[in-house]
Amino acid sequence: MSTNIDLKDPALLASVAEKTAAARTLLRQIVDNYSPAVFANSLGAEDMVLTDLITSDKLDIDIFSLDTGRLPLETYDLIAEVKKHYGLTLKLYYPRHDLIESYTRENGINAFYESVELRKGCCYVRKVEPLQRALANNKAWITGLRALQSATREGLPIQSFDEGNRLVKFNPLADWSEKDVWAYIRLNKIPHNALHDKFYPSIGCAPCTRAITPGEDIRSGRWWWEAPESKECGLHVNKA
Ligand code: ADX
Ligand code: SF4
Repeated sequence: MSTNIDLKDPALLASVAEKTAAARTLLRQIVDNYSPAVFANSLGAEDMVLTDLITSDKLDIDIFSLDTGRLPLETYDLIAEVKKHYGLTLKLYYPRHDLIESYTRENGINAFYESVELRKGCCYVRKVEPLQRALANNKAWITGLRALQSATREGLPIQSFDEGNRLVKFNPLADWSEKDVWAYIRLNKIPHNALHDKFYPSIGCAPCTRAITPGEDIRSGRWWWEAPESKECGLHVNKA
């Protein structure tokens, strides 16, 4: 979580410095070789690191967020804070109103609690379909995924071809630990989601995210009523 790191630990400082340099180099290579490239920013801790790297190096990478309509208030506050801190207006993508209207009319406003199928249906309408529009006409996309986030992300590569979306996918923080992420945030004094300070290590939509207790898996607060194997929303279908 956001606490428990020793900013004087030489091993941690060396790790962050080395991984930051590698991520910087990779981001620049993406601009040079895969433009136009876009960064999908969920406003989570990892994505704030990438936002900081992209904006401080003035890289030509568009940054977008999927506003599902069900995000926590703290995430909206952070969108406003990003504007203040970086002068950056995130490009927001919204669900198609016709799809949301038919989904909620047929299934109800909180149908995602009823079955994995209905939950995935909601994620499709609110996240996956808007993502497809956000990615259209780009050569590459960048995410804040890390291999250590969950069993479903084990072995995550830094670069792969995203078959579903037909473009190259980069995960520059694939080999970062949670401590690396938080050390970067603290050392560079960059904004972060207030929910991280309230035992929310992983943040998605408000009704599908809850706080965890120390020692629990970092994604255990996401879709907590489901089995770990089903806990992906469709944004990241392969390990890629
Ligand atoms: S999720 O698939 O379970 O929702 P997670 O919250 O771990 O994903 O985020 C992983 C990566 O997916 C983020 O670093 C970001 O690149 C992308 N992502 C997730 N949610 C959003 C969002 N609402 N807007 C933009 N990108 C997102
Ligand atoms: Fe719907 Fe929950 Fe998926 Fe958000 S995380 S799109 S509210 S099912």
